[in-house]
Amino acid sequence: MSLLEIKDLTVGIKKTGEKILKEISFSLHYGEILGILGESGSGKSLTALSILRLLPPGLTYFDGEILFQGKNLLKLKEEEINQIRGKDISIIFQDPLSTLNPVLTIGEQIEEVLFYHFGLKGEKAREFIIRVFKDVGIPDPELRIKNYPHELSGGLRQRAMIAMAIACSPKILIADEPTTALDLTIQMQVLELLKTLNREKTLSIIFITHDIGILRWFATRILVFYKGQILEAAPVESLFKRPLHPYTKLLFDSYPGKNSLSYLNFFDKAVSEEALCNFYGRCPIACKKSLENAPQLIEVYPSHFVRCFLYE
Ligand SMILES: Nc1ncnc2c1ncn2[C@@H]1O[C@H](COP(=O)(O)OP(=O)(O)O)[C@@H](O)[C@H]1O
Ligand code: SF4
Ligand SMILES: [Mg+2]
Repeated sequence: MSLLEIKDLTVGIKKTGEKILKEISFSLHYGEILGILGESGSGKSLTALSILRLLPPGLTYFDGEILFQGKNLLKLKEEEINQIRGKDISIIFQDPLSTLNPVLTIGEQIEEVLFYHFGLKGEKAREFIIRVFKDVGIPDPELRIKNYPHELSGGLRQRAMIAMAIACSPKILIADEPTTALDLTIQMQVLELLKTLNREKTLSIIFITHDIGILRWFATRILVFYKGQILEAAPVESLFKRPLHPYTKLLFDSYPGKNSLSYLNFFDKAVSEEALCNFYGRCPIACKKSLENAPQLIEVYPSHFVRCFLYE
């Protein structure tokens, strides 16, 4: 059974009606690490923010359901969603400094969360936080608890943010490019930490990145995002063994050894026709059927879905 199920999520600009996320549907299973792969601007962060109802101003939900343990989060009252944020579902970002409060110590910030959700404070909260710091591998936790965010190194700051995110033992952690700003060694340590939390605390993770290399060993299943749509969704082995979508193939074939999707910006080309396939303008095949019809996600191999007419 799924822990989280997203159905036809369509998000866009309120004023113009322009759609940015187009009928995104996927589910997160218990204990899995679901990777979301996509270039910059493909809608990864917006998907993450949508789940917790944290859309930036000016954007709105046009359609869809976000079912967490059967409850539609889009229908909850503000105080009900507040109970879920940080407790059942947590989110961490690339830049902890933009999330952490600069005028409170790390300890004080985590204590706020613990007080809000569990009524825990004072010495009890302190002991609890020290335990969580140990869990996430922060050395000298008794000292670090008194540090302000800017007093920590990038790696420790990211660990502190993870500590805050997992303090209330959430069921789901959404990690939006959490290691992108870190150097390689620290990046690997943070990934190892997330993997351990996934294994030992059965934390289910949605891991967002533009780095194919990371997902190959880190994720159990991958969604390939492109211009606000899912073009392919598959278990990691199946995706690497037989990528189906022309876009995924391009990603995997064209840049051996290069992991970053930013290289792909070269591929944009001008097109005269309006197609109903999102990828038409960059597709080496550019099938005619997509001028008349919109491709749907279809299952080609077990649990391996693709949105492309080549497979119909
Ligand atoms: N507040 C906003 N107002 C209007 N458009 C936005 C806003 N935030 C993001 N977008 C647009 O939504 C698209 C997806 O953005 P985002 O989810 O941040 O992409 P990603 O995380 O994959 O890089 C982008 O084209 C971006 O320009
Ligand atoms: S549906 Fe047609 S245009 Fe779209 S990706 Fe497949 S082959 Fe290319
Ligand atoms: Mg982003």
